Amino acid sequence: MKLLAIETSCDDTAIAIIEVKKEGSKTKFKILGSEVSSQISIHIPYGGVFPALAKREHIKNLPLVLEKVLKEAKMKMEKIDTVAVTTGPGLEPALWTGIVFAKELNQKYKIPIVKVNHMEGHIFSIFPKKGKTFIIDPDKKIFQMLSLLVSGGHTELILIKDWFKYKKIGQTRDDAAGEAFDKVARMLDLPYPGGPEISKMAGIERAGIKRENVVPGSIAQAVEPSTSKKHSSVLLRADGNNISSEIPEIVLPRPMIYSKDYDFSFSGLKTAVLYLIRDLKEKNPNVLDNINIKQKIACEFENAVVETLVHKTIKAIKEYKIKTLIVGGGVSANTYLQTIMNEKIKENKLKVKVHFPTKKLTGDNALMIAIAGYFQAKNKKFVKNINSIKAKGNLSL
Ligand code: KG4
Ligand code: ZN
Repeated sequence: MKLLAIETSCDDTAIAIIEVKKEGSKTKFKILGSEVSSQISIHIPYGGVFPALAKREHIKNLPLVLEKVLKEAKMKMEKIDTVAVTTGPGLEPALWTGIVFAKELNQKYKIPIVKVNHMEGHIFSIFPKKGKTFIIDPDKKIFQMLSLLVSGGHTELILIKDWFKYKKIGQTRDDAAGEAFDKVARMLDLPYPGGPEISKMAGIERAGIKRENVVPGSIAQAVEPSTSKKHSSVLLRADGNNISSEIPEIVLPRPMIYSKDYDFSFSGLKTAVLYLIRDLKEKNPNVLDNINIKQKIACEFENAVVETLVHKTIKAIKEYKIKTLIVGGGVSANTYLQTIMNEKIKENKLKVKVHFPTKKLTGDNALMIAIAGYFQAKNKKFVKNINSIKAKGNLSL
C-alpha cells in the first residue's frame, strides 16, 4: 500500500508518502518522501501561533509541499492508494485546510481517506530510526506501554494496554509543558518557539556550574538576616567564595509533583517566573540584560518541568508495570528530559525500554501521521461520507 499523509494541526505544513508491505506477521515501512514546511518565522512577531495566519500559510503551502514530496518520492498521485489526514486535536482553522485538501485529492483521484488523531501520530513517531525503512512487529512483547506526550498543546500520560487501546491516566490541568516553555521564553525576551531557546540557556548554565566545580549539594544560601530569604541569597562555591554576589538564588516550585494522581499543572510555575522577574525588575529594571540571570532562570525552570514530568512518569511505570515507555511531542526534543528520564529509570532499576523519537520526528511531521494512518486503513476505517469529516480541536485519544 502507498499512503500519503497530510498534517496541518498547528504551524507546520507537512506531507509524507510511505509504502507498506507485510512480511509474515511483521509490517515493513519504506519512507518514500517526507516534507515539512515550517511557519515559525511568520509567527515569531506574535510570540506564538496566530491561527488565521497559520490557515493562510497552510493553504498557500499545501500544493507546494505536495509537489515537493511527490518529486522526492518519484511518484504521481495516481499511484497513491490511501490519503491519511489529521483531523484533531489542534487549531481548527489549521486542521480544516488539511481536511479540505484531502477531500480535493479524494475527488480528483478517487483515493479513499482515513482520519488520524494527531496524538496517536506522536506515539507512532518513535518507530522510524535512521535510514529509509523500519519494521513494526505486532507480536513483539511490548505491552503494557506508557506514553508521555508533551507538546505545545498537550501534556498527558497514556496507558497503552494493547495496540490502539488507550487510557489517559493523567494530563495537565492548565498549560501544556511546551506552552509553559514558550510563555517563559517570552518573559525572558527569547524568541518563539521557546523550548529550544530555554533549553540552550539552561544547558550553558549547567555546564557553567560544572566548570565552577561546585560540589553537589554544597550550594549554600548566604542570607543577610535583614533581607527576605526569597531572592536575596547568593550562591557560594564549596570553598565559600561567591559565584557572583549580583546573581540571586532562583528557586521555583515543582507543581503537583507529590499529588497522588498523574495530573500536571504548569500555570503556577509560569506565574512564579512572572513574579520572580517582576521582583527582580523592581530592584533593577535592566535585570534581564544580565545573561547570567536569564540562564539561571531558564535552568531552574527547565529543572522544575523535567523533574515533574519524570517523577510522575516513573511513578506510573512502577504502578502499571510498564514494559515500554514512549515519549513524544515537541518537548521530547529536550535533551535534559531525555537524560533525566534515562537516569531515573536506571536509578530505580526499572526494566523498561525507553523510546524517544529521532530529533526530526519530535516536532510535528506527516510521517508519524502516515504510520498511524496505515493502521487505520489496515483496519478498514475508511471514511464513508467525506462530507462528514470534521476538524476537532479537542479530539482526545
Ligand atoms: O509537537 P509540537 O511540534 O507541536 C504541537 O503539537 O504543539 O510541539 C511544539 C512545542 C513548543 O511549545 C516548543 O517550545 C516545544 O515543543 N519544544 C521544546 C523543545 N523543542 C520544542 N520544549 C522544550 N525543549 C525543547 N528542546
Ligand atoms: Zn504535535
